[in-house]
Amino acid sequence: MKPHIVVLTGAGISAESGIRTFRDSDGTWENYRIEEVATPAAWKKDKALVLEFYNQRRKQVLEANPNPAHLALVHLETAYNVSIVTQNVDDLHERAGSTSVLHLHGEIRKARSTVNPTEILEITGWQLNPGDTCSKGSQLRPHIVWFGEEVPALQTAAELVSTADMLLVIGTSLAVYPAAGLIYDTPPECQKILIDPNAPSVSPDFTIIKKQAGTGVPELVNQLLR
Ligand code: APR
Repeated sequence: MKPHIVVLTGAGISAESGIRTFRDSDGTWENYRIEEVATPAAWKKDKALVLEFYNQRRKQVLEANPNPAHLALVHLETAYNVSIVTQNVDDLHERAGSTSVLHLHGEIRKARSTVNPTEILEITGWQLNPGDTCSKGSQLRPHIVWFGEEVPALQTAAELVSTADMLLVIGTSLAVYPAAGLIYDTPPECQKILIDPNAPSVSPDFTIIKKQAGTGVPELVNQLLR
């Protein structure tokens, strides 16, 4: 059986694809405050604003392409059982070709019914607009986990991490829970590696590689495949 590598990714892995991270700038997302656009209260208050914010981010994602870090993780599958657990809402892991990708915080290219959470649709193009409705006639919302909402994929992610031979954490500030807490779900013998040019503080059993993902990930993957 191939060793199991769980890869926990954050915004940093997509930075070199041109998608901005959340906390590297001034704490705002493209000039919006988080509470204005990424909470259930924001949705209740101003659906058009929330939809427009995600439309702009979706447009950015559609214009972006996977970078060498995403591509190297696909290559890793030749010798390892690789499970990607991502906090990112972009689809760059899938477009690179990774076969097992779990999205903790949703997927920006999908919409969800506001009356039936199991009705999830692919968005054609970059826009989801006021008046776009599900099969029951209700407004569709972005298929995104907002602050204050449950993380439905958390249990599955924790189970994956609990069977990891290696945990590889890439490009995340580990500032947002419960996702950040996953690094504590590893079995005792699991090897832990963190790749981030501005690495957050983690327990001393982590090997820290202070490099950009586009350089650090292909280098590590080459070592692991040697
Ligand atoms: N390569 C690797 N890491 C990078 C790069 C790069 N080229 N550029 C920046 N980074 C690192 C930063 O040093 C930082 O540690 O990426 C991390 C980005 O952190 P955040 O912006 O906080 O993003 P993330 O950890 O993914 O945020 C978690 O918060 O806002 C919510 O739901 C959103 O999923 C997101 C969650």
